Amino acid sequence: MLHFDNPAIRIENLTKTFDDHTVLNGLNFDIPRGKITTILGFSGAGKSTLLKHILGLMQPTSGSIHVLDKDLSELNNVEQREFRRNFGMLFQYAALFDSLSALENVAFPLKEFTTLKEEEINVKCHALLESVGIQPISHDKLPSELSGGMRKRVGLARALALEPQIMLYDEPTTGLDPITTHMVNDLIVSTSDRNKDRQMTSVIISHDVKATLRISDFVAFLDRGNIVEYLAAEDFPHSSNELVQDFVNL
Ligand SMILES: Nc1ncnc2c1ncn2[C@@H]1O[C@H](COP(=O)(O)OP(=O)(O)OP(=O)(O)O)[C@@H](O)[C@H]1O
Ligand SMILES: [Mg+2]
Repeated sequence: MLHFDNPAIRIENLTKTFDDHTVLNGLNFDIPRGKITTILGFSGAGKSTLLKHILGLMQPTSGSIHVLDKDLSELNNVEQREFRRNFGMLFQYAALFDSLSALENVAFPLKEFTTLKEEEINVKCHALLESVGIQPISHDKLPSELSGGMRKRVGLARALALEPQIMLYDEPTTGLDPITTHMVNDLIVSTSDRNKDRQMTSVIISHDVKATLRISDFVAFLDRGNIVEYLAAEDFPHSSNELVQDFVNL
């Protein structure tokens, strides 16, 4: 099991119980800065529940979560909301605003949360869209006029607009065709590389073992509310854990 000095996220003895159902069971987990870490696990293992705790959207029954050295339990509601700006999030279905163009979608968080002038926002949005491979000809298109892969790119540009310290990807490729899947995975890596100098951390939740091993630095396996394996990606296929072997060989 891996431990890191000065991690982006440190989770200690995290337990979450709904009524009498324990979903997270004394979980310990460090996520290192500046790397790509993927959480794998069977359906119902508790992955989304874990993610909601990291985002401060759910309160632990017991245990603690530190994100960027902050103890989440010490933040009040207003501070929580402010703190969430450290996170960028790419959802399974890019979740763009249907009535806003690609560029307006990316501009939205900048208008909402910064004091940048319109021209500065425009320049920044162009750079963001270019960085994810969206050509100017598509900037004014509505989400319904874009392909699934392009919507993902726009969603990623929007998530990156406020320069988050931590990018969270929740099943970023589920439901995509193989070529788009490959593209999104490459985009996650190039985005991580481009933001390495500022130590941006990437956390992915995935079912896709093959892609996970290709693009991640570290891989954790969550089973019934515990991290039961946590290794560098190249070591993961050689895990002696039987469940991990079952999952890898599915
Ligand atoms: N708000 C809630 N109230 C009660 N039970 C919940 C709640 N949220 C999650 N659970 C339970 O916690 C367990 C884990 O759910 P979770 O969504 O975290 O799994 P998951 O690993 O994300 O699964 P999947 O791969 O299917 O998305 C499930 O049994 C679920 O029913
Ligand atoms: Mg889930």
